[in-house]
Amino acid sequence: MSQFLPSVIITGTGAYAPANVVTNDDMAKIVDTSDDWIRSRSGISERRFAGDGESTSDMAVAAAAQAIDAAGIDRSEIDLVIVATMTPDMPFPSTACIVQSKLGLGNITAFDLQAACSGFIYALNTGSNMLRSGAYKKALIIGADKMSSVLDFEDRTTCVLFGDGASAVILEASDSAGVGILDSITGSDGSNPELLYQPAGGSSLPASTESVTARQHYIKMNGKEIFKLAVRVMGQVSCDILERNDYNTAQVDLVIPHQANMRIIDSLAKRIHLPLEKFHNNLDRFGNTSGASIGLALDEAFRAGRIRTGDLVLLVAFGAGLTWGSTLIKWQ
Ligand SMILES: CC(C)(COP(=O)(O)OP(=O)(O)OC[C@H]1O[C@@H](n2cnc3c(N)ncnc32)[C@H](O)[C@@H]1OP(=O)(O)O)[C@@H](O)C(=O)NCCC(=O)NCCS
Repeated sequence: MSQFLPSVIITGTGAYAPANVVTNDDMAKIVDTSDDWIRSRSGISERRFAGDGESTSDMAVAAAAQAIDAAGIDRSEIDLVIVATMTPDMPFPSTACIVQSKLGLGNITAFDLQAACSGFIYALNTGSNMLRSGAYKKALIIGADKMSSVLDFEDRTTCVLFGDGASAVILEASDSAGVGILDSITGSDGSNPELLYQPAGGSSLPASTESVTARQHYIKMNGKEIFKLAVRVMGQVSCDILERNDYNTAQVDLVIPHQANMRIIDSLAKRIHLPLEKFHNNLDRFGNTSGASIGLALDEAFRAGRIRTGDLVLLVAFGAGLTWGSTLIKWQ
């Protein structure tokens, strides 16, 4: 076992969104909705849907390749890959194993992590702690979801909100103290899974002709309840992580919240007393890409020059489960 290393830093970011842009007007040709309703209720203008035959692992590989290039490392140096997804290529084997093979990585530790829209933060937390243990040196963390594969295109209350995409970061252990991923908090409350779920296709309701006919392989959501919980838990977990690291909100340079709904982000901003200018958002162009969402916004913000060395960056998410999480980064 190698020696303990104090810090874990992000050395490369990457993102991928499918080429197929689907506007709100396009959605209005599929379900009874309108551009005005979708924009005003969610802030979304368009989303991307994967092409025929394009799977979650294909998107993950594209985002990962970009992150590896940005980090300037050789693929052989990566010794851990975690894929946060709720829409794996198939129930098993894991999408991480498929990614390992498609990228030509070594025979390394590879596994999927399922925490729905909080998956990227759960994966960052898990990966950075595995690096801190000294057992791993360079981790590839991916968030990827093909939400179009579980959307019910007869349910206007859900299908207009989501999109497909992938994002990735390379984490590396570093011996400079006080930089990189300073801390993460993750939490859950599984007492009411029906708030946001896919009823069939698992062990409690295996796929059957009846389950398909009843459209039980698609997302079901209690939007109003999720909205209220999202604002509350994201507000709480943002304050908690700042407090336990002796920071206040005024010291935060940039917040990257899960990209679900602009009204949720507005309410969060008010709750934690930060102006919207301190948030990086791109849900207008991508919708809610679940596990990909935070990384997609992080990559975009970094490439746009919105994150500089020394910046304090707060990531915050919530998702089905319920799950939630926050990560505090001192950008290196
Ligand atoms: C889903 C959400 C946008 C709905 O917004 P809302 O303001 O709560 O809207 P309501 O559910 O009250 O619906 C208002 C009306 O719009 C209708 N409506 C719902 N979807 C519609 C659509 N796509 N187009 C047009 N009308 C729609 C409803 O049927 C309802 O009509 P009614 O009043 O005649 O019954 C909002 O609740 C939300 O974003 N929740 C959080 C969801 C989320 O983030 N999920 C991901 C978690 S990771």
